[in-house]
Amino acid sequence: AGMVTLDPGFGNTASCKSEITYIDGAAGILRYRGYSIQDLATGSSFLEVCYLLIKGRLPEAAELKEFADELRSNAELPAGMADMLNAFPRNAHPMTLLASSVNTLSAFYADSVDPQDPAQVDLATTRLLAKLPTIAAHIYRNSIGETPIAPDPSLDYVENFLNMTFGSAKPEGEVGELFAKAMDLLLILHADHEQNCSTATVRVVGSSQADLYGSVSAGINALFGPLHGGANQAVLEMLEQIREMGGDLDAFLAQVKDRESKTRLMGFGHRVYKNFDPRSREIKGLARQILDRQERPDELFELALQLEDKALADPYFTERKLYPNVDFFTGVIYRAMGFPTSMFTVLFAIGRLPGWIAHWREQLNDPATRISRPRQLYVGPGERAYPGRA
Ligand code: CMC
Repeated sequence: AGMVTLDPGFGNTASCKSEITYIDGAAGILRYRGYSIQDLATGSSFLEVCYLLIKGRLPEAAELKEFADELRSNAELPAGMADMLNAFPRNAHPMTLLASSVNTLSAFYADSVDPQDPAQVDLATTRLLAKLPTIAAHIYRNSIGETPIAPDPSLDYVENFLNMTFGSAKPEGEVGELFAKAMDLLLILHADHEQNCSTATVRVVGSSQADLYGSVSAGINALFGPLHGGANQAVLEMLEQIREMGGDLDAFLAQVKDRESKTRLMGFGHRVYKNFDPRSREIKGLARQILDRQERPDELFELALQLEDKALADPYFTERKLYPNVDFFTGVIYRAMGFPTSMFTVLFAIGRLPGWIAHWREQLNDPATRISRPRQLYVGPGERAYPGRA
């Protein structure tokens, strides 16, 4: 028998070769297809990044327009999905409903579930990208007891999502533009992150030749966990809890450092980054831009800034190389834009979708792909006699 290496959480195991995303965790570098996240954050758009991740190169202007038009014309929900969404409990978590809805796309669109047919894979890709924001907004409207809003083909991707979510409550003018720009930037920053838990899940499921919708649905469930995408919701809940405790940051950090308490500083730490997460820097700047516009200082943002300073000055965090990650400041921005905490991880899912699709497709076309099937070290009992019944 071959040697089996124990590697809990796959911290030291590469499961594939990939051309999509490069991370240097020590230097805090992140690149999609070779382009730095800073350049993409300043110069690109979310749709251009989707194209780049999935097709492997930047689109020409005409190609980008065609791509955007294709998504626009596919944004409607499949007939029957609204009835299905309306039947779910209204107080269910949106992530559970999102994963369920995406899974049922295989049922509504059985004409695009064959991984061996490139035309079907393209169709599933378009449908997923086009419909995920519509599904998310529909779930949100149901959760607040408001009538869902149909997609408007005259609006671009992000504007359309904000319109389907907030309707007439959407801010107009300068603030409206700022929110749309912020949303677009946040989606770019979340678009891919190589073999993170949800992307690895999409690949594992896809490696059995399951269809794209089902694989992405599994990824959404992986993202939901508080140690992964659910951290953006958990950060805001943590800040609210600290505020309720009278804003005593030292008491909270003492609790985090107490190994018995199992409390973590949410939004801090990363498997790969042992330095600043470059995304968190971009996001902190964006948070300032958005929250400085408010008349009164945002209490939770102020708390987050103080918490960050205190943690970065504390040897517990510096010795373990724990720095703020992508999720630390996103929640305060989403909150300022009017999203409830339960929608935060849904926004992450909309951003990460092109990454999931790009990885699923890369794996499909990689001749080295084998079914994902880790080994184990068995540590249970040896053979023992089964006590026969008298
Ligand atoms: N607060 C307090 N201590 C921490 C934290 C934290 N947030 N993260 C790690 N540690 C400690 C951990 O207890 C361990 O200490 P020791 O060596 O004394 O036992 C040490 O740091 C190494 O941690 P680890 O658990 O081996 O690290 P990991 O690579 O397995 O976990 C992580 C990475 C992101 C799950 C973890 O840092 C964490 O739970 N962070 C909080 C949740 C969070 O913000 N998640 C979002 C991650 S970024 C975006 C995303 O993936 O969605």
